[in-house]
Amino acid sequence: MKLEKNTIIITGASSGIGRAIAKEYASKNTRLFLFGRSKERLEEVANYCHQYDTEVNIIICDLKDKIATTAMIDSISQQFKIDMIFACAAVSAGTLKAPETTHQVEEIFSTNLNGVLNSVLPLLPHMITNNCGTIVLFSSMAGLIGLSSAPSYSASKGAIKILAEGLRAYLKKFNVKICLVIPGYVDTPMTKVNNFPMPLMISADKAAKIIIDGINKNKAIIAFPKSLYFILKIVGLLPNQWIDFINAKLPGKPAFHEQE
Ligand SMILES: NC(=O)c1ccc[n+]([C@@H]2O[C@H](COP(=O)([O-])OP(=O)(O)OC[C@H]3O[C@@H](n4cnc5c(N)ncnc54)[C@H](OP(=O)(O)O)[C@@H]3O)[C@@H](O)[C@H]2O)c1
Repeated sequence: MKLEKNTIIITGASSGIGRAIAKEYASKNTRLFLFGRSKERLEEVANYCHQYDTEVNIIICDLKDKIATTAMIDSISQQFKIDMIFACAAVSAGTLKAPETTHQVEEIFSTNLNGVLNSVLPLLPHMITNNCGTIVLFSSMAGLIGLSSAPSYSASKGAIKILAEGLRAYLKKFNVKICLVIPGYVDTPMTKVNNFPMPLMISADKAAKIIIDGINKNKAIIAFPKSLYFILKIVGLLPNQWIDFINAKLPGKPAFHEQE
């Protein structure tokens, strides 16, 4: 009997956590749609997956482009039943030397929020009709408190957390699952630019394993490391002045132009 392939879309598949997730799913029973802007890095991931007879489709797409992204997602979901989407793609920058520029703030929100909405919203009607599907959304520990070191990134990740909570409750009746991932520090190009100690940092491969294990266990929230998650939850309960005091002392994240 021929097995139905597991069809998975991964945005941000050309780097870091998305790339590691793609590699974890490499198998002959999987059909991957790998989204990113770097053809070269997507091809490297695809070549790895091909070793395991995975069906891989590379999609070069800027997720800020709503029309192009919607058209691509619609086209894929008209051809295949989508089992899962990992909406990993994001950018990050901060306030190391100066306040955030309008350009930086817009770039962060249009990628981390609009980019996620552009890739996830077109899938909802299909998943609702199919009465199944899993949407994996990426927040961050930085989304639990508005960080002085990266206010817009922090706000974008806070918005994803709230979006996930709302969608999870709404989509339950359609059997569409929302899984919210809340990572601490993961060793990827996003954190390579940070010039400060990053406690409890783990590799992208380990992060991918934790995330997939959590999905297999049907977890609604996958937060790691647990200790950092609980510390931040407790910090969030402190009086505002205390939070401000701690927050103001955080080391700065470089702006986009300082990362080049
Ligand atoms: N690393 C961490 O410590 C950490 C911690 C908490 C949360 N997270 C979250 O985890 C997720 C993955 O992060 P990561 O560390 O793996 O990041 P990363 O290595 O910097 O990779 C980011 C990915 O996003 C893609 N991307 C960025 N802008 C895009 C755009 N406009 N259109 C299409 N693709 C775009 C990039 O593709 P191209 O390079 O091909 O353009 C790349 O594949 C993100 O949502 C991040 O916020 C990461």
